[in-house]
Amino acid sequence: LTRGAVVPDLAGRSVVVSAGGTREYLDPVRFLGNRSSGLQGYALARAAASRGAQVTLVAANTALPDPAGVKVVRVETTEQLRTEVLAAASSADAVVMAAAPADFRPTSTSEAKIKKADDGSAPALELTQNPDILRELSTTRPRAGAVVVGFAAETGDATGSVLELGRAKLARKGCDLLVVNDVSGGAVFGSPDNEAVILAADGGATEVPRGSKTALAHAIWDQVAPRLP
Ligand code: CTP
Ligand code: CA
Repeated sequence: LTRGAVVPDLAGRSVVVSAGGTREYLDPVRFLGNRSSGLQGYALARAAASRGAQVTLVAANTALPDPAGVKVVRVETTEQLRTEVLAAASSADAVVMAAAPADFRPTSTSEAKIKKADDGSAPALELTQNPDILRELSTTRPRAGAVVVGFAAETGDATGSVLELGRAKLARKGCDLLVVNDVSGGAVFGSPDNEAVILAADGGATEVPRGSKTALAHAIWDQVAPRLP
């Protein structure tokens, strides 16, 4: 069987996908953000819909057209992303956290635009850590038996290789699958292509060779499908 004649193996299933990058506001016009385009999350949503799933896509600050047949919920901040993902997860068979939530937010957000001082000084930024949505989903399991999938973009460092850091992150997060990208070159952001290793909590590892984000999306659902409740 080849792709093109897609098997509706997710028919009757409900899935949640998050996509994009959150924004954490300093004031009404300024924010801390990141480079996530949302392309991989949108590819996951389209792939799941094509396989028959009922899909909720929680999209953070993306500039992409709504995929056909997908319910799109728009958010900006990590706190809003958390609220919407947890709400949708309570009736979902699988949740894939492809979004890049900001790890930190300004401790306070000014209601008025912050003005610059005449003396050349700049304000200090005080940051607070955001809630970890993936870890919360993995530990609280809003729906028993639902499959929880995370992503990790790693470069490898003095403490371990990309795969070692991925294994450690999978254990720390407590999710069922972790899709590990090697971003050493810095070329994945906004790129139509991706390559990854899908690590499973049961010890499995599936290498997905460089290809389209759609191909990686299908490879991820191939791993999710047999693990569904
Ligand atoms: N994630 C999340 N909530 C956060 C941060 C991350 O749900 N506040 C999710 C991401 O959507 C992704 C996974 O956790 O699926 C891993 O994100 P990553 O940034 O690699 O993990 P962190 O724990 O933030 O670790 P790091 O210090 O490497 O950034
Ligand atoms: Ca992070």
